[in-house]
Amino acid sequence: MKLTIIGTGYVGLVTGTCFAEVGHQVICVDNNTDKVKLLQGGGIPIYEPGLEDLVKKNVAAGQLRFSASTAEGVENSDVVFIAVPTPPLPDGSVDLSFIESVAREIAGAMTSYKIVVDKSTVPVKTGDKVAETIKRYGKSKVEFDVVSNPEFLREGFAVEDLMKPDRVVVGVRTQRPVPAMRALYAPFHAPIIVTDINSAELIKHAANSFLALKISYINAVSVICEASGANVQEVANGMGMDARIGRRFLDAGIGFGGSCFPKDLSAFIKISEQLGYDFALLKEVQRINAGQMDRFVKKITDTLWVLKDKNIGVLGLAFKQNTDDVRLSPAIDLCQRLLKEGAVLRVHDPKAMDKAREVLKNATYVEDMNEVAAGCDALVIATEWPIFKKLDLERARRLLTHPILFDGRNLFDAREMEEMGFIYKSVGR
Ligand code: UDX
Repeated sequence: MKLTIIGTGYVGLVTGTCFAEVGHQVICVDNNTDKVKLLQGGGIPIYEPGLEDLVKKNVAAGQLRFSASTAEGVENSDVVFIAVPTPPLPDGSVDLSFIESVAREIAGAMTSYKIVVDKSTVPVKTGDKVAETIKRYGKSKVEFDVVSNPEFLREGFAVEDLMKPDRVVVGVRTQRPVPAMRALYAPFHAPIIVTDINSAELIKHAANSFLALKISYINAVSVICEASGANVQEVANGMGMDARIGRRFLDAGIGFGGSCFPKDLSAFIKISEQLGYDFALLKEVQRINAGQMDRFVKKITDTLWVLKDKNIGVLGLAFKQNTDDVRLSPAIDLCQRLLKEGAVLRVHDPKAMDKAREVLKNATYVEDMNEVAAGCDALVIATEWPIFKKLDLERARRLLTHPILFDGRNLFDAREMEEMGFIYKSVGR
């Protein structure tokens, strides 16, 4: 099938590339001409495992190309995806201005029937607005259908999530676009849920808020574990073996961050408020998340006392493993709080150092993770990168002026660390 994806961010670029990989003809459109030039020249604007090879392969095969023109994309496709950002406004609600302007551009460019699919995360009822907008700005005789098809990919695992989705959600107003949507997703062999547009839009906010709730739940349990001498990982393992609960997203730590959970939670709270419901449960999820970071910082200050002029090594800057994304990263937040207390930081991340340099200026960036500890009063683990488990611990202990390790992601075994001579503090253990 012939597709256009408007918006070449995480969702748009990975979606377009994976559709090309399974045999569709894809044009990825972005109004940022620098980004389009970079992509046309073989560059990739983000770090995402597996993506670069797939882009190169599909560009070379003529399955995937990039353009700065929405009109060119719309003219040459049957299905047009909207994958533009929906950033938060100061009051927590969603800025839909990019969606609205893309809807107008699509309307202006349409000369024959199109399926317009919204992939961006949007408040319930946005599909209706998109349909109204296209109708208002489009040529009178041109037919179209609006479909809601939310994306559930995780950064760092985006290609895998796209190629092997747990489910595909398709929200429609009429049955007309359903066969095409089924054909589009047939190569992925995933269950397809066909529903109404409002339900499809709600599935996305309800799912992400639930996952955030799951993390806050285990973080709250971690507080009880610490107070009672229990081990949160043992509790999570025991809970997770109940198939109704599941082990995933039960890792306690310094809280969730990134460009989705915090934003989607605020949006869902706001949407609920506008619909007349006070979603207090989700406000508590936010409160627990903020408290988790406060408690971790307190753990550091309780141990090191005054932080002014203390040297602290920080491993991890990205908001989670496998990504170079530092947007709303708990690790960056932690660094900023330590800097505010007067600490001197040596930091490292396997992929996110370039992006971190833009937001975290007063720190020494260390290329080798095994050198971060040099001359430090303590070492902190802030991101769950698996490679940190391979840290040369003997060397770290020797390099530290005091063998203190704060593990915000529970990467190591507490007993082994103590046997090695570390003063080891983790979360909920
Ligand atoms: C999330 C959703 O998982 C995805 O379905 C949606 O499309 C976008 O939002 P993402 O933000 O890429 O994806 O990352 P995710 O892996 O969900 O992690 C989010 C945050 O939660 C990270 O800061 C991570 O460190 C934290 N986290 C995750 C935990 O603290 N504990 C866990 O058990 C899992």
